Amino acid sequence: MDASWWDDAVVYQVYLRSFFDANGDGIGDLAGLRNQLPYLSALGVDAVWLNPCYTSPQRDHGYDIADYLTVDPSYGTMDDFRALVADAHESGIRVLMDMVANHCSDQHAWFVEALASAPGSPSRERFLFRDGRGAGGELPPNNWQSVFGGPAWSRVTEADGSAGQWYFHAFDPGQPDFNWRNPDVADYFDEVLRFWYSLGVDGFRIDVAHGHFKQVELNDWPGAEDDSGGHNYDMWDQPEVHEIYRRWRALGAEGPGEEKYLVGEIWVPSLERLAAYLAPDELHAAFSFELLVQPWDAARMARAVRLSLDQAKRTGTRQAWTLANHDVHRPATRYGQQQLLEDALPTDMIAAARRTGEADLDLGVRRATAAAMLQLALPGSVYLYQGEELGLPEVLDLPDDARQDPIWLRSAGAELGRDGCRVPMPWEADAQSFGFSPAGAAAPWLPQPPVFSELAVDQQDGVAGSTLSRFREAIRTRRDHFDPDAELAWLDSGHAELLAFTRGASACVVNFGDTDLALPTSWSAELVLASAPISVGGDVLAIPANSAAWLRIDRVAAASAGPVQADGVHQDSPFPLLESTAP
Ligand code: NOJ
Ligand code: CA
Repeated sequence: MDASWWDDAVVYQVYLRSFFDANGDGIGDLAGLRNQLPYLSALGVDAVWLNPCYTSPQRDHGYDIADYLTVDPSYGTMDDFRALVADAHESGIRVLMDMVANHCSDQHAWFVEALASAPGSPSRERFLFRDGRGAGGELPPNNWQSVFGGPAWSRVTEADGSAGQWYFHAFDPGQPDFNWRNPDVADYFDEVLRFWYSLGVDGFRIDVAHGHFKQVELNDWPGAEDDSGGHNYDMWDQPEVHEIYRRWRALGAEGPGEEKYLVGEIWVPSLERLAAYLAPDELHAAFSFELLVQPWDAARMARAVRLSLDQAKRTGTRQAWTLANHDVHRPATRYGQQQLLEDALPTDMIAAARRTGEADLDLGVRRATAAAMLQLALPGSVYLYQGEELGLPEVLDLPDDARQDPIWLRSAGAELGRDGCRVPMPWEADAQSFGFSPAGAAAPWLPQPPVFSELAVDQQDGVAGSTLSRFREAIRTRRDHFDPDAELAWLDSGHAELLAFTRGASACVVNFGDTDLALPTSWSAELVLASAPISVGGDVLAIPANSAAWLRIDRVAAASAGPVQADGVHQDSPFPLLESTAP
């Protein structure tokens, strides 16, 4: 297999709306990102992934696209986009966009046309319109539920004013699902991909890549109404979906220029099913959410790494590791919470990564930095979510009236939703909106908490021992220590709470425990980098509690035992994400 840039890339996820606001309307924009490219260069990232920035009514902040061929005016112009791509490339940073092809916005021209057309017309065939059940068609066509809560069907009013058909939406009613069995849809997306590739985009993150097709008959799924029926196998991961990726893989290799990269967001019930998406003629990678859903526990983390690597080996692909994104609570908060193991059996990613409750943020940041060093030492690519490098916490106490996530709105406040990880970035402690917007600007679209002041970029930049400095150093030096082709071998440190492995001449150790743990002297370990202050001297190197270190080691016997098989490992399913499909 030839090496490709994405094999070991560090990709920085930019939630554009919250990154940097150049024009002062309180909303991050393309020009703002362009201004801050030097920050990303200094961080050492290889690529950015932009959350959707196409024209959108922003019901789900860009995951509801009204026009796939323009950028949203609130983010800037097409010229801003071109300038951003040019400058990013100039800085050696590749640009990935987000392809949302399972659904569009209810304001997309096709959907507007479908609503104005009669039932059964070709325009309606591009979506999933059905007659309702019951005498007057007043009941939804089946019992499927939307990921954001409530029925996955909404009823339309026909052009003559009568109550009409229903359309299917896996997410918000503002996000009608396409009918991918209609050839118009596939042709349309070919055009969309080609358009952005022609502007220099280097690839796509594919939104709900296991969606797109639904079981053709759309029968009821027993227990779907109250979630007692488990994973709805008819709503996701249908065999036809693979045709899309074969088509897109070929399209991305057409040229001109280098092959375009495709990474999928995929939630499926087994690693075997996931592997199907990584066939040599489909996606290059799929996010490995295994680490993200684990609690702070050596055995669980080690097992997650092992299973993911086994899977990568089977498919001949590289892992795309991630601990954070715009859909889950931030790691600094997650790892600072009391995480009971029983509570942490993540059959459901939302429960696993969206817990609320008290958090010890000092502890959380300390652990999150260690976890970042763990993933940066693993073979494969790493996806960082903006603000992770500052140790930003989840903002759990946003005022109710500030919240905008459809999860919050559709659950009538029963679920907080995802606004708390989307709060605008703090750049300067003493500036208005912590430097997110220029002086005199409108308030940021979500309010920032006071704690963002001490975490602002200008408080951490160049400061030894700051979270930002530790991230920078780890990102910038990982390839010097861990040869991208070096395989991982587990080490048995003699401590159940110390996860340890080598890759080539370097090792990574993570102490998940609450006490310092001494490394075996036989390792002759020399410290390279640590996630927390560590004292070196004497014969024994001790790894502080809740921290990670990279080491150069002379010679140690790699063992397959160690934390992976320690007591307390749950042997049930090899893949924890069995039951639910997360947004
Ligand atoms: C997954 C995205 O990451 C999430 O933010 C979005 O709400 C859903 N897909 C629907 O597009
Ligand atoms: Ca702006």
